[in-house]
Amino acid sequence: MKSILENRPALAYEVEQVAEVAGYLWQKGWAERNGGNITVNVTEHIDEEIRQMPAIAEPVAMGEVLPHLKGCYFFCKGTNKRMRDLARRPMENGSFIRITEDCAHYEIIADNPVKPTSELPSHLAMHNYLLGKGLNYKAALHTHPIELVAMSHTDKFLEKDVLTNLLWSMIPETKAFCPRGLGIARYQLPGSQILADTTIAQLDDYDVVLWEKHGVCSVGCDIMEAFDQVDVLNKSAQIYINAKCMGYEPDGMSQAQMAEMTKAFNLPK
Ligand code: 13P
Ligand code: ZN
Repeated sequence: MKSILENRPALAYEVEQVAEVAGYLWQKGWAERNGGNITVNVTEHIDEEIRQMPAIAEPVAMGEVLPHLKGCYFFCKGTNKRMRDLARRPMENGSFIRITEDCAHYEIIADNPVKPTSELPSHLAMHNYLLGKGLNYKAALHTHPIELVAMSHTDKFLEKDVLTNLLWSMIPETKAFCPRGLGIARYQLPGSQILADTTIAQLDDYDVVLWEKHGVCSVGCDIMEAFDQVDVLNKSAQIYINAKCMGYEPDGMSQAQMAEMTKAFNLPK
């Protein structure tokens, strides 16, 4: 069977980037079993021949009408598929979907009928929300970074911007490369619509959202950017925890150092 990627280098590149990030997630220990998921909006690479391709499985109701996704195409990790397998064989562990004209269903079009991730409600809600705001975000990532999840197990870190300020102060680059900080979504059932709603409520202020006792969700212009933001935040979390393990509360950068950094790098806030 001919792959949808054949003679479509731009589309193939998107899948390669997903596979590369999936490998990093596994290497970092953030992707036990099928943990985590990725979706990328690939609509800009879709040609007329793909638009005419028939669905290879029945349309599935999304449970919500997502008007800004009309006619959009996504590459999605499959539900129950492992990141380490997505890294090596992306087209067997993920699939391309099309959002139907009624904006209420999706259908799988290629290469295999791999059912998309159970977190599709959150992913599609985020894509829909950001597109509606006219923003150029294409990728959404959910993963289980150990240290950030560990820090989400206490209420004191779940107050607004407590973790943002703490993590920014651990190493100067964290604010530079995650300038909008870390939003908080209190615990909700994985895969639920309420988790999706709780997540998008954070997107006006943040690109990365911590899911209490579960993981993080992040959005970016491409999948590397979505990954990098989680990576820098989790690095700061590791530094904090390492200092605590050495028996002291780290000082963190001072307010003056943070202000100098914010000005020098032309950052918001
Ligand atoms: P999926 O295998 O359905 O993508 O689920 C993994 C996960 O992390 C759920 O939160
Ligand atoms: Zn998860």
